[in-house]
Amino acid sequence: MSERGKLTVYTGPMYADKTTHLIEHAKAAGEQGIVFKPSLDDRYGGGDFVRSHNNESHQAILFDAKKPGEILRIVAQHPEISQAIIDEIQFCASDILTVLEKILVMGLNVIVAGLDLDSEKNWFGSMEEIIAKADEVVNLTATCDGCGGDATYTYSKVPKKGVVAVGAADLYGAACKNCYGGLSKS
Ligand code: ADP
Ligand code: TMP
Ligand code: MG
Ligand code: ZN
Repeated sequence: MSERGKLTVYTGPMYADKTTHLIEHAKAAGEQGIVFKPSLDDRYGGGDFVRSHNNESHQAILFDAKKPGEILRIVAQHPEISQAIIDEIQFCASDILTVLEKILVMGLNVIVAGLDLDSEKNWFGSMEEIIAKADEVVNLTATCDGCGGDATYTYSKVPKKGVVAVGAADLYGAACKNCYGGLSKS
């Protein structure tokens, strides 16, 4: 049996360089890596690419966030791959936990990025469990729109109806713990 793979999680608020780090991993992995992104993320032109706020991109396989089992099926078809890289993992249904476990048991390293909290400061999707499962957690910060300090929260610039609303600077900004209350319009 192959050795269990390692799970690395890049997390933090929006604009914290999570996708930038994933793209670096994807480039370094080359043919050894396979990159996935939920299809509901259609920002900055969408398509089958992971895209950062800085205009960096990398080819990715789109999957339905409600059916993360699609990731497992595709990974199983590619025995030559040693790394699975997944962006926007906060959008995935809770089956993602079983999917991650199965990929790790297969011996692949898994590198994921996702928001820890939504704009109401509640855990987003299965991120609490994914972080608990991780071998390495990289907690990133953004720059607070209020004071320029380290931002750990994402605030909503407009009143929101549900948790999920795909968008960028039109909808969201980053805030530190002090400035969040004054900036949030949700
Ligand atoms: P994440 O995936 O964590 O949201 P990215 O890696 O896509 O972040 O992009 C991070 C970069 O976005 C930052 O290094 C910064 O240059 C840029 N950025 C910061 N604030 C904004 C903003 N309000 N709108 C667009 N880009 C931003
Ligand atoms: P990012 O972390 O790569 O910037 O992308 C986060 C995505 O999550 C972006 O499409 C906006 C979305 N989002 C929500 O759907 N709900 C939320 O509460 C927050 C903060 C972000
Ligand atoms: Mg991102
Ligand atoms: Zn601040």
